[in-house]
Amino acid sequence: MGANRLCEGRVVVVTGAGRGLGRAHALAYAAEGARVVVNDLGVGLDGTPGPDSPAARVVQEIRAGGGDAVAHGGDIATTAGAASLVRTALDTYGRLDTLVNNAGFLRDRMLVNLDEDDWDAVLRVHLKGHFLPLRHAAAHWRAETKAGRTPTARVVNTSSGAGLLGSLGQGNYSAAKAGILGLTLVAAAELARYGVQVNAIAPAARTRMTEATFAETMTAPETGFDAMAPENVSPLVVWLGSAASEGVTGRVFETEAGRITVMEGWHPGPTQDRGARRTPEEAGETVRKLLPQARTPGPVYGAG
Ligand SMILES: NC(=O)c1ccc[n+]([C@@H]2O[C@H](COP(=O)([O-])OP(=O)(O)OC[C@H]3O[C@@H](n4cnc5c(N)ncnc54)[C@H](O)[C@@H]3O)[C@@H](O)[C@H]2O)c1
Repeated sequence: MGANRLCEGRVVVVTGAGRGLGRAHALAYAAEGARVVVNDLGVGLDGTPGPDSPAARVVQEIRAGGGDAVAHGGDIATTAGAASLVRTALDTYGRLDTLVNNAGFLRDRMLVNLDEDDWDAVLRVHLKGHFLPLRHAAAHWRAETKAGRTPTARVVNTSSGAGLLGSLGQGNYSAAKAGILGLTLVAAAELARYGVQVNAIAPAARTRMTEATFAETMTAPETGFDAMAPENVSPLVVWLGSAASEGVTGRVFETEAGRITVMEGWHPGPTQDRGARRTPEEAGETVRKLLPQARTPGPVYGAG
């Protein structure tokens, strides 16, 4: 404990922080001196309403450890929920420094069986659930900048390997998580003038989302490094959300176990410009010529 903790004096909002990765992030921020708004709607793995209030439990844990936290039980994919989330930080602590967008759930189906409702629900909770808190936090930071108080603000978004490479049976989730990457790039570029840095992570850890599907890789060992503990992801999230990450923005990091990887996005590969329109056959000839010169994309998760 001391004034040299990484997030001393900062106020951090973490969405979906009642369990899993969000809970680990909230506890890690509190351990670094941040005051934390712990958001969680308390829904089931498929987004259906749950019986309990996991946010209140995490707040109790933080307070029991000597930290400061407040619960927020709203739905971050609604304007009312996102606005009240930002307001909770401002009303309770008088400031907002870091937003960690993390909440979400799954409705996995192969495309041919994917109902419109399952598409909408997953796009809504992840993509809209990132946009709305970001939009309301950004409006606050812009107002601060205009009032002559440019913040040292940070946003950490949560994508997934599914958004980077695609994942079998997760068309809705992969599209939402890829959308979050695009949103991250735009937000980083638009909000830099308001003192806001925006990055994204693609984590992997043992939570209720993964412990059944990937049981073999997720199980905790009896001794030694528990590689898939969600707590292994949080240190990067805390650093990105701190003032110490100055100059790092618009980046995507894969993070799991002891590994951190900087992801490199789309870059132009082999190209040919003939300076005139092609016939479809000519377009095909060009593509056939270029593809062998290009890097092969990584395999879609689950496609073997
Ligand atoms: N666990 C992994 O390996 C993994 C891999 C890639 C990405 N992710 C992403 O990490 C994030 C956290 O996932 P997790 O594995 O900890 O899952 P989790 O189910 O343990 O936690 C997600 C939390 O979000 C909450 N939530 C859902 N909808 C909400 C809403 N509308 N408003 C507020 N809270 C809501 C849930 O109640 C839950 O507590 C998700 O965005 C997930 O897609 C996880």
